[in-house]
Amino acid sequence: MTIYNMEYDYSGVLVDAIGTEHGLTMREILFYREKTAAAHAALTRRSEMGEVGFMDLPGKVPEARGIEEMAAAKRRGMEACLVLGIGGSSLGGRALRDALKTPLYNEMSPEKRGGTPRLYFAENIDPETFSGLLGLLSPNRTLVVVISKSGGTAETMSQFLIALDWLKKNLGNAASQHVVAITDPAKGTLREIAGEEGFDTLDIPPNVGGRFSVLTPVGLFPAALIGIDIVALLKGAAAMANRCSSPGLEENPAYLNAVIHYCYDVEKKKPLSVLMPYADSLLSLADWYRQLYAESLGKRVALSGEVVHAGPTPIRALGATDQHSQLQLYMEGPFDKVITFIKVARPRRDLDIPYPLSYATPLDYLPNHTLGQLLDFERFATTHALRHNRRPTIFLGLEEINAFNMGQLLYFYELQVAFQGFLYGVNPFDQPGVELGKKLTYGLMGRKGYESYVKDLEK
Ligand code: PA5
Repeated sequence: MTIYNMEYDYSGVLVDAIGTEHGLTMREILFYREKTAAAHAALTRRSEMGEVGFMDLPGKVPEARGIEEMAAAKRRGMEACLVLGIGGSSLGGRALRDALKTPLYNEMSPEKRGGTPRLYFAENIDPETFSGLLGLLSPNRTLVVVISKSGGTAETMSQFLIALDWLKKNLGNAASQHVVAITDPAKGTLREIAGEEGFDTLDIPPNVGGRFSVLTPVGLFPAALIGIDIVALLKGAAAMANRCSSPGLEENPAYLNAVIHYCYDVEKKKPLSVLMPYADSLLSLADWYRQLYAESLGKRVALSGEVVHAGPTPIRALGATDQHSQLQLYMEGPFDKVITFIKVARPRRDLDIPYPLSYATPLDYLPNHTLGQLLDFERFATTHALRHNRRPTIFLGLEEINAFNMGQLLYFYELQVAFQGFLYGVNPFDQPGVELGKKLTYGLMGRKGYESYVKDLEK
Protein backbone atom coordinates (compact mmCIF):
# COMPACT_ATOMS: atom_id res chain seq x y z
CA MET A 1 0.00 0.00 0.00
CA THR A 2 1.64 3.29 -1.05
CA ILE A 3 0.93 6.46 0.91
CA TYR A 4 2.55 9.29 -1.06
CA ASN A 5 6.29 8.75 -0.45
CA MET A 6 5.75 6.03 2.11
CA GLU A 7 5.07 2.35 1.63
CA TYR A 8 3.07 0.38 4.19
CA ASP A 9 3.26 -3.38 3.76
CA TYR A 10 1.54 -5.70 6.20
CA SER A 11 1.88 -8.89 4.14
CA GLY A 12 4.31 -10.17 6.81
CA VAL A 13 1.46 -10.63 9.29
CA LEU A 14 -0.72 -12.67 6.96
CA VAL A 15 -1.27 -16.41 7.13
CA ASP A 16 0.35 -16.84 3.69
CA ALA A 17 3.61 -15.47 5.09
CA ILE A 18 3.79 -16.97 8.58
CA GLY A 19 1.15 -19.70 8.82
CA THR A 20 -2.13 -20.04 10.67
CA GLU A 21 -0.95 -20.18 14.26
CA HIS A 22 0.66 -16.71 14.31
CA GLY A 23 -0.62 -15.15 11.10
CA LEU A 24 -3.87 -13.29 10.47
CA THR A 25 -6.32 -13.90 7.64
CA MET A 26 -7.91 -10.94 5.86
CA ARG A 27 -11.18 -12.28 7.24
CA GLU A 28 -9.88 -11.94 10.80
CA ILE A 29 -8.71 -8.40 10.11
CA LEU A 30 -11.94 -7.36 8.40
CA PHE A 31 -13.93 -8.85 11.25
CA TYR A 32 -13.00 -5.58 12.99
CA ARG A 33 -14.91 -3.45 10.48
CA GLU A 34 -17.74 -2.84 12.93
CA LYS A 35 -15.38 -2.05 15.79
CA THR A 36 -13.48 0.25 13.43
CA ALA A 37 -16.68 2.13 12.62
CA ALA A 38 -17.44 2.53 16.35
CA ALA A 39 -13.89 3.68 17.19
CA HIS A 40 -13.92 6.07 14.24
CA ALA A 41 -17.25 7.49 15.42
CA ALA A 42 -15.88 7.95 18.96
CA LEU A 43 -12.75 9.71 17.68
CA THR A 44 -14.79 11.91 15.32
CA ARG A 45 -17.22 12.81 18.10
CA ARG A 46 -14.34 13.89 20.34
CA SER A 47 -12.77 15.82 17.50
CA GLU A 48 -16.04 17.63 16.76
CA MET A 49 -16.24 18.56 20.44
CA GLY A 50 -12.82 20.23 20.02
CA GLU A 51 -11.03 17.72 22.23
CA VAL A 52 -8.62 16.23 19.69
CA GLY A 53 -6.44 19.21 18.89
CA PHE A 54 -3.64 17.29 17.17
CA MET A 55 -5.96 16.66 14.20
CA ASP A 56 -6.24 20.42 13.53
CA LEU A 57 -2.49 21.05 13.55
CA PRO A 58 -1.60 20.17 9.92
CA GLY A 59 -3.68 23.14 8.75
CA LYS A 60 -1.84 25.67 10.91
CA VAL A 61 0.59 26.87 8.24
CA PRO A 62 0.20 30.63 9.00
CA GLU A 63 1.06 29.94 12.66
CA ALA A 64 4.11 27.97 11.51
CA ARG A 65 5.31 30.94 9.49
CA GLY A 66 5.04 33.07 12.65
CA ILE A 67 7.07 30.48 14.55
CA GLU A 68 9.75 30.56 11.82
CA GLU A 69 10.01 34.34 12.10
CA MET A 70 10.32 34.22 15.86
CA ALA A 71 12.93 31.44 15.66
CA ALA A 72 14.99 33.44 13.15
CA ALA A 73 14.95 36.46 15.48
CA LYS A 74 15.70 34.53 18.68
CA ARG A 75 18.58 32.46 17.29
CA ARG A 76 20.46 35.56 16.08
CA GLY A 77 23.82 35.70 17.88
CA MET A 78 23.19 32.36 19.64
CA GLU A 79 25.70 29.56 19.49
CA ALA A 80 23.44 27.05 21.24
CA CYS A 81 19.81 26.49 22.23
CA LEU A 82 18.98 24.47 25.29
CA VAL A 83 15.53 22.89 25.43
CA LEU A 84 14.20 22.11 28.91
CA GLY A 85 11.24 19.76 28.86
CA ILE A 86 10.46 16.12 29.53
CA GLY A 87 8.35 13.40 27.90
CA GLY A 88 6.01 14.88 25.33
CA SER A 89 7.66 18.26 25.86
CA SER A 90 10.97 16.97 24.55
CA LEU A 91 10.79 13.72 22.57
CA GLY A 92 9.13 15.15 19.43
CA GLY A 93 11.65 17.97 19.05
CA ARG A 94 14.55 15.59 19.51
CA ALA A 95 13.06 13.18 16.96
CA LEU A 96 12.89 16.05 14.45
CA ARG A 97 16.45 17.22 15.11
CA ASP A 98 17.91 13.72 14.76
CA ALA A 99 15.85 12.74 11.73
CA LEU A 100 16.27 15.92 9.74
CA LYS A 101 19.71 17.11 10.84
CA THR A 102 21.18 13.72 11.94
CA PRO A 103 22.19 12.76 15.50
CA LEU A 104 25.65 14.30 14.82
CA TYR A 105 24.18 17.78 14.31
CA ASN A 106 25.69 19.31 17.45
CA GLU A 107 29.15 18.01 16.56
CA MET A 108 29.11 19.77 13.16
CA SER A 109 30.98 23.00 12.44
CA PRO A 110 28.90 26.22 12.25
CA GLU A 111 29.34 26.16 8.43
CA LYS A 112 28.04 22.61 8.16
CA ARG A 113 25.12 23.59 10.43
CA GLY A 114 24.29 26.40 7.99
CA GLY A 115 24.96 29.00 10.69
CA THR A 116 22.18 27.71 12.93
CA PRO A 117 22.89 27.10 16.64
CA ARG A 118 23.51 23.77 18.31
CA LEU A 119 20.35 22.30 19.83
CA TYR A 120 20.42 20.36 23.10
CA PHE A 121 17.54 18.56 24.82
CA ALA A 122 18.30 18.25 28.52
CA GLU A 123 15.27 16.07 29.38
CA ASN A 124 16.59 14.05 32.35
CA ILE A 125 17.50 15.67 35.65
CA ASP A 126 20.63 13.68 36.38
CA PRO A 127 22.73 16.42 38.00
CA GLU A 128 25.94 15.07 36.55
CA THR A 129 24.69 15.43 32.98
CA PHE A 130 22.85 18.69 33.49
CA SER A 131 25.76 20.49 35.16
CA GLY A 132 28.06 19.02 32.50
CA LEU A 133 25.77 20.38 29.80
CA LEU A 134 25.65 23.89 31.29
CA GLY A 135 29.44 23.74 31.53
CA LEU A 136 29.60 23.31 27.75
CA LEU A 137 27.53 26.44 27.07
CA SER A 138 28.24 30.16 27.31
CA PRO A 139 25.30 32.02 28.81
CA ASN A 140 25.68 35.08 26.61
CA ARG A 141 25.34 32.92 23.47
CA THR A 142 22.70 30.45 24.66
CA LEU A 143 18.93 30.57 24.22
CA VAL A 144 16.99 28.61 26.84
CA VAL A 145 13.68 27.21 25.62
CA VAL A 146 11.57 25.97 28.52
CA ILE A 147 8.63 23.77 27.54
CA SER A 148 5.92 22.56 29.89
CA LYS A 149 2.22 22.23 29.09
CA SER A 150 1.21 22.15 32.75
CA GLY A 151 3.85 24.72 33.60
CA GLY A 152 4.77 22.99 36.83
CA THR A 153 6.50 19.66 36.14
CA ALA A 154 9.17 19.30 38.84
CA GLU A 155 11.94 18.03 36.54
CA THR A 156 11.55 20.81 33.98
CA MET A 157 10.97 23.55 36.51
CA SER A 158 14.05 22.57 38.56
CA GLN A 159 16.22 22.67 35.45
CA PHE A 160 14.61 25.95 34.52
CA LEU A 161 15.37 27.55 37.91
CA ILE A 162 18.99 26.42 37.64
CA ALA A 163 19.29 27.70 34.06
CA LEU A 164 17.60 31.04 34.87
CA ASP A 165 19.88 31.54 37.85
CA TRP A 166 22.88 30.80 35.59
CA LEU A 167 21.64 33.32 33.01
CA LYS A 168 20.87 36.01 35.60
CA LYS A 169 24.22 35.63 37.35
CA ASN A 170 26.01 36.06 34.04
CA LEU A 171 23.78 38.44 32.13
CA GLY A 172 21.83 40.38 34.74
CA ASN A 173 18.78 42.09 33.27
CA ALA A 174 19.50 40.77 29.78
CA ALA A 175 18.72 37.23 30.99
CA SER A 176 15.06 37.42 30.04
CA GLN A 177 16.02 37.99 26.38
CA HIS A 178 17.63 34.54 26.47
CA VAL A 179 14.48 32.65 27.43
CA VAL A 180 11.48 31.50 25.42
CA ALA A 181 8.68 29.77 27.35
CA ILE A 182 6.29 27.38 25.60
CA THR A 183 3.29 26.56 27.75
CA ASP A 184 -0.49 26.74 28.14
CA PRO A 185 -1.84 30.10 26.88
CA ALA A 186 -3.46 31.01 30.20
CA LYS A 187 -2.75 28.58 33.03
CA GLY A 188 0.17 27.36 35.10
CA THR A 189 3.17 28.60 37.02
CA LEU A 190 5.41 28.88 33.95
CA ARG A 191 2.87 31.17 32.27
CA GLU A 192 2.83 33.39 35.40
CA ILE A 193 6.62 33.52 35.60
CA ALA A 194 6.89 34.31 31.87
CA GLY A 195 4.57 37.29 32.37
CA GLU A 196 6.47 38.47 35.43
CA GLU A 197 9.91 38.15 33.82
CA GLY A 198 8.93 39.38 30.35
CA PHE A 199 9.93 36.24 28.43
CA ASP A 200 8.84 35.72 24.86
CA THR A 201 6.25 32.95 24.81
CA LEU A 202 4.49 30.53 22.50
CA ASP A 203 1.24 28.75 23.28
CA ILE A 204 0.51 25.04 23.45
CA PRO A 205 -3.14 24.60 22.43
CA PRO A 206 -5.04 23.42 25.54
CA ASN A 207 -6.63 20.57 23.58
CA VAL A 208 -3.29 19.02 22.54
CA GLY A 209 -1.68 16.69 25.08
CA GLY A 210 2.11 16.50 25.53
CA ARG A 211 2.74 13.36 23.51
CA PHE A 212 0.56 14.61 20.63
CA SER A 213 2.22 18.03 20.58
CA VAL A 214 5.14 17.59 18.19
CA LEU A 215 3.39 19.69 15.52
CA THR A 216 2.68 22.57 17.96
CA PRO A 217 5.41 25.06 19.01
CA VAL A 218 6.67 22.26 21.31
CA GLY A 219 8.30 20.52 18.34
CA LEU A 220 8.10 23.24 15.71
CA PHE A 221 9.98 26.02 17.53
CA PRO A 222 13.11 23.95 18.33
CA ALA A 223 12.96 22.57 14.76
CA ALA A 224 12.69 26.07 13.28
CA LEU A 225 15.65 27.23 15.40
CA ILE A 226 17.88 24.85 13.45
CA GLY A 227 16.41 25.65 10.07
CA ILE A 228 14.06 22.69 9.60
CA ASP A 229 11.30 23.42 7.09
CA ILE A 230 8.36 23.25 9.49
CA VAL A 231 5.82 24.22 6.83
CA ALA A 232 6.86 21.12 4.85
CA LEU A 233 6.40 19.08 8.03
CA LEU A 234 2.82 20.33 8.35
CA LYS A 235 2.20 19.70 4.66
CA GLY A 236 3.36 16.10 5.08
CA ALA A 237 1.07 15.70 8.08
CA ALA A 238 -1.81 17.20 6.07
CA ALA A 239 -1.18 14.75 3.24
CA MET A 240 -1.29 11.85 5.69
CA ALA A 241 -4.44 13.21 7.36
CA ASN A 242 -6.05 13.32 3.95
CA ARG A 243 -4.83 9.81 3.06
CA CYS A 244 -6.16 8.47 6.38
CA SER A 245 -9.50 10.27 6.39
CA SER A 246 -11.60 7.31 5.31
CA PRO A 247 -13.50 5.44 8.02
CA GLY A 248 -13.09 2.25 5.94
CA LEU A 249 -10.58 -0.18 7.37
CA GLU A 250 -9.21 -1.30 4.00
CA GLU A 251 -8.64 2.28 2.82
CA ASN A 252 -7.09 3.72 5.94
CA PRO A 253 -3.52 2.54 6.64
CA ALA A 254 -3.38 4.11 10.13
CA TYR A 255 -6.58 2.32 11.15
CA LEU A 256 -5.37 -0.91 9.57
CA ASN A 257 -2.12 -0.76 11.52
CA ALA A 258 -4.07 -0.09 14.72
CA VAL A 259 -6.40 -3.04 14.10
CA ILE A 260 -3.50 -5.39 13.34
CA HIS A 261 -1.73 -4.45 16.59
CA TYR A 262 -4.97 -4.57 18.58
CA CYS A 263 -5.87 -7.98 17.18
CA TYR A 264 -2.40 -9.33 17.93
CA ASP A 265 -2.60 -8.03 21.51
CA VAL A 266 -6.08 -9.17 22.47
CA GLU A 267 -6.60 -12.22 20.26
CA LYS A 268 -3.18 -13.62 19.49
CA LYS A 269 -1.49 -12.78 22.80
CA LYS A 270 1.28 -10.74 21.22
CA PRO A 271 1.27 -7.56 23.31
CA LEU A 272 4.76 -6.34 22.36
CA SER A 273 5.13 -3.86 19.52
CA VAL A 274 8.70 -3.35 18.31
CA LEU A 275 9.64 -0.38 16.13
CA MET A 276 13.00 -0.97 14.50
CA PRO A 277 14.24 1.63 12.04
CA TYR A 278 17.31 0.83 9.96
CA ALA A 279 18.59 4.40 10.24
CA ASP A 280 20.35 6.03 13.20
CA SER A 281 18.54 9.27 12.50
CA LEU A 282 15.18 7.57 13.18
CA LEU A 283 16.08 6.07 16.55
CA SER A 284 14.72 9.14 18.36
CA LEU A 285 11.51 8.74 16.37
CA ALA A 286 11.25 5.26 17.87
CA ASP A 287 11.69 6.83 21.36
CA TRP A 288 8.89 9.26 20.57
CA TYR A 289 6.67 6.41 19.32
CA ARG A 290 7.39 4.41 22.48
CA GLN A 291 6.07 7.20 24.69
CA LEU A 292 3.08 7.91 22.44
CA TYR A 293 2.06 4.24 22.46
CA ALA A 294 2.72 3.56 26.15
CA GLU A 295 1.10 6.63 27.69
CA SER A 296 -1.87 6.64 25.35
CA LEU A 297 -2.84 2.98 25.56
CA GLY A 298 -1.69 1.81 29.00
CA LYS A 299 -4.81 2.39 31.10
CA ARG A 300 -6.39 0.87 34.21
CA VAL A 301 -9.94 2.01 33.56
CA ALA A 302 -11.91 1.97 30.30
CA LEU A 303 -14.22 4.78 29.22
CA SER A 304 -17.07 2.55 30.38
CA GLY A 305 -15.69 2.63 33.95
CA GLU A 306 -14.65 -1.02 33.85
CA VAL A 307 -11.19 -1.87 35.22
CA VAL A 308 -9.31 -3.28 32.21
CA HIS A 309 -5.56 -2.78 32.73
CA ALA A 310 -5.23 -2.42 28.95
CA GLY A 311 -2.16 -1.72 26.94
CA PRO A 312 0.39 -3.31 24.66
CA THR A 313 4.08 -2.63 25.36
CA PRO A 314 6.15 -0.65 22.86
CA ILE A 315 9.82 -1.45 22.34
CA ARG A 316 12.33 0.50 20.34
CA ALA A 317 15.22 -1.15 18.58
CA LEU A 318 17.79 -0.10 16.00
CA GLY A 319 18.88 -2.00 12.92
CA ALA A 320 21.51 -3.30 12.45
CA THR A 321 22.85 -2.70 16.00
CA ASP A 322 20.10 -4.61 17.82
CA GLN A 323 20.51 -7.61 15.55
CA HIS A 324 23.45 -8.26 17.86
CA SER A 325 21.43 -7.62 21.01
CA GLN A 326 17.67 -8.24 20.70
CA LEU A 327 17.26 -10.31 17.57
CA GLN A 328 18.01 -13.70 19.08
CA LEU A 329 15.03 -13.13 21.39
CA TYR A 330 12.77 -11.91 18.57
CA MET A 331 13.75 -14.88 16.43
CA GLU A 332 13.49 -17.74 18.90
CA GLY A 333 11.93 -16.44 22.12
CA PRO A 334 8.23 -16.25 22.96
CA PHE A 335 5.77 -15.55 20.14
CA ASP A 336 4.69 -12.29 21.76
CA LYS A 337 5.85 -9.56 19.36
CA VAL A 338 4.88 -7.70 16.20
CA ILE A 339 7.95 -6.11 14.65
CA THR A 340 7.84 -3.07 12.37
CA PHE A 341 10.88 -2.29 10.26
CA ILE A 342 11.50 1.13 8.77
CA LYS A 343 13.62 1.34 5.66
CA VAL A 344 14.93 4.53 4.06
CA ALA A 345 15.21 3.85 0.33
CA ARG A 346 17.56 6.73 -0.46
CA PRO A 347 19.87 7.52 2.48
CA ARG A 348 21.26 11.06 2.39
CA ARG A 349 24.80 9.67 2.26
CA ASP A 350 26.42 6.40 1.42
CA LEU A 351 29.97 5.11 1.66
CA ASP A 352 31.78 2.70 -0.61
CA ILE A 353 33.58 0.01 1.32
CA PRO A 354 37.20 0.11 0.10
CA TYR A 355 39.82 -2.65 0.22
CA PRO A 356 43.03 -0.99 1.40
CA LEU A 357 44.85 -4.35 1.71
CA SER A 358 47.29 -5.79 -0.83
CA TYR A 359 46.60 -9.44 0.04
CA ALA A 360 43.53 -11.66 -0.06
CA THR A 361 41.37 -12.10 3.06
CA PRO A 362 37.89 -13.48 3.69
CA LEU A 363 36.75 -9.82 3.68
CA ASP A 364 37.12 -9.36 -0.05
CA TYR A 365 33.35 -9.80 -0.57
CA LEU A 366 32.71 -6.48 1.21
CA PRO A 367 34.34 -3.94 -1.12
CA ASN A 368 31.88 -4.54 -3.95
CA HIS A 369 29.22 -2.91 -1.81
CA THR A 370 28.38 0.27 0.05
CA LEU A 371 27.61 0.56 3.78
CA GLY A 372 24.04 1.47 2.82
CA GLN A 373 23.68 -1.76 0.85
CA LEU A 374 25.02 -3.79 3.75
CA LEU A 375 22.50 -2.13 6.10
CA ASP A 376 19.64 -2.83 3.74
CA PHE A 377 20.68 -6.43 3.08
CA GLU A 378 20.71 -6.90 6.86
CA ARG A 379 17.17 -5.58 7.13
CA PHE A 380 16.03 -7.76 4.24
CA ALA A 381 17.71 -10.86 5.63
CA THR A 382 16.34 -10.24 9.13
CA THR A 383 12.80 -9.76 7.86
CA HIS A 384 12.96 -13.01 5.93
CA ALA A 385 14.53 -14.96 8.76
CA LEU A 386 11.76 -13.73 11.08
CA ARG A 387 9.13 -14.68 8.54
CA HIS A 388 10.73 -18.10 8.26
CA ASN A 389 10.41 -18.39 12.05
CA ARG A 390 6.71 -17.40 11.78
CA ARG A 391 7.14 -13.98 13.46
CA PRO A 392 4.76 -11.19 12.36
CA THR A 393 6.49 -8.25 10.68
CA ILE A 394 5.32 -4.98 9.15
CA PHE A 395 7.30 -2.87 6.69
CA LEU A 396 7.35 0.91 6.44
CA GLY A 397 9.40 2.26 3.56
CA LEU A 398 10.34 5.93 3.31
CA GLU A 399 11.65 7.12 -0.02
CA GLU A 400 13.97 9.47 1.86
CA ILE A 401 14.10 11.34 5.14
CA ASN A 402 12.83 14.86 4.63
CA ALA A 403 10.49 17.22 6.47
CA PHE A 404 7.42 16.28 4.40
CA ASN A 405 7.94 12.55 4.98
CA MET A 406 8.57 13.07 8.69
CA GLY A 407 5.31 15.00 8.92
CA GLN A 408 3.58 12.04 7.28
CA LEU A 409 5.14 9.50 9.60
CA LEU A 410 4.42 11.46 12.79
CA TYR A 411 0.80 12.00 11.86
CA PHE A 412 0.41 8.36 10.80
CA TYR A 413 1.43 7.18 14.26
CA GLU A 414 -0.55 9.85 16.12
CA LEU A 415 -3.71 8.90 14.29
CA GLN A 416 -3.07 5.17 14.67
CA VAL A 417 -2.54 5.45 18.41
CA ALA A 418 -5.48 7.79 19.05
CA PHE A 419 -7.76 5.46 17.09
CA GLN A 420 -6.27 2.37 18.74
CA GLY A 421 -7.20 3.85 22.12
CA PHE A 422 -10.84 3.80 21.10
CA LEU A 423 -10.50 0.18 19.91
CA TYR A 424 -9.46 -0.63 23.48
CA GLY A 425 -12.28 1.55 24.76
CA VAL A 426 -9.86 3.72 26.77
CA ASN A 427 -9.13 7.44 26.69
CA PRO A 428 -5.89 7.80 24.68
CA PHE A 429 -5.53 11.44 25.69
CA ASP A 430 -5.16 11.27 29.46
CA GLN A 431 -2.34 9.96 31.68
CA PRO A 432 -3.63 9.48 35.25
CA GLY A 433 -0.67 7.27 36.16
CA VAL A 434 1.85 9.95 35.20
CA GLU A 435 -0.14 12.61 37.05
CA LEU A 436 -0.17 10.50 40.21
CA GLY A 437 3.62 10.11 40.03
CA LYS A 438 3.95 13.88 39.68
CA LYS A 439 1.75 14.49 42.74
CA LEU A 440 3.70 12.02 44.88
CA THR A 441 6.94 13.76 43.89
CA TYR A 442 5.48 17.16 44.80
CA GLY A 443 4.50 15.73 48.19
CA LEU A 444 7.96 14.28 48.83
CA MET A 445 9.60 17.57 47.84
CA GLY A 446 7.41 19.44 50.32
CA ARG A 447 5.11 21.31 47.91
CA LYS A 448 2.14 22.83 49.73
CA GLY A 449 -1.19 21.11 49.09
CA TYR A 450 0.37 17.72 48.30
CA GLU A 451 1.03 16.50 51.89
CA SER A 452 -1.75 13.90 51.74
CA TYR A 453 -0.02 12.01 48.91
CA VAL A 454 3.02 11.44 51.13
CA LYS A 455 0.77 10.30 53.98
CA ASP A 456 -0.73 7.74 51.59
CA LEU A 457 2.77 6.49 50.80
CA GLU A 458 3.52 5.99 54.49
CA LYS A 459 0.48 3.75 54.97
O1 PA5 B 1 2.53 13.24 27.12
C1 PA5 B 1 2.39 13.74 28.21
O2 PA5 B 1 1.33 14.29 28.58
C2 PA5 B 1 3.54 13.74 29.22
O3 PA5 B 1 4.60 12.95 28.79
C3 PA5 B 1 4.05 15.17 29.40
O4 PA5 B 1 4.51 15.67 28.16
C4 PA5 B 1 5.18 15.23 30.42
O5 PA5 B 1 4.78 14.65 31.63
C5 PA5 B 1 5.63 16.66 30.66
O6 PA5 B 1 4.53 17.43 31.07
P1 PA5 B 1 4.53 18.99 30.96
O7 PA5 B 1 4.63 19.36 29.52
O8 PA5 B 1 3.24 19.42 31.58
O9 PA5 B 1 5.73 19.49 31.72
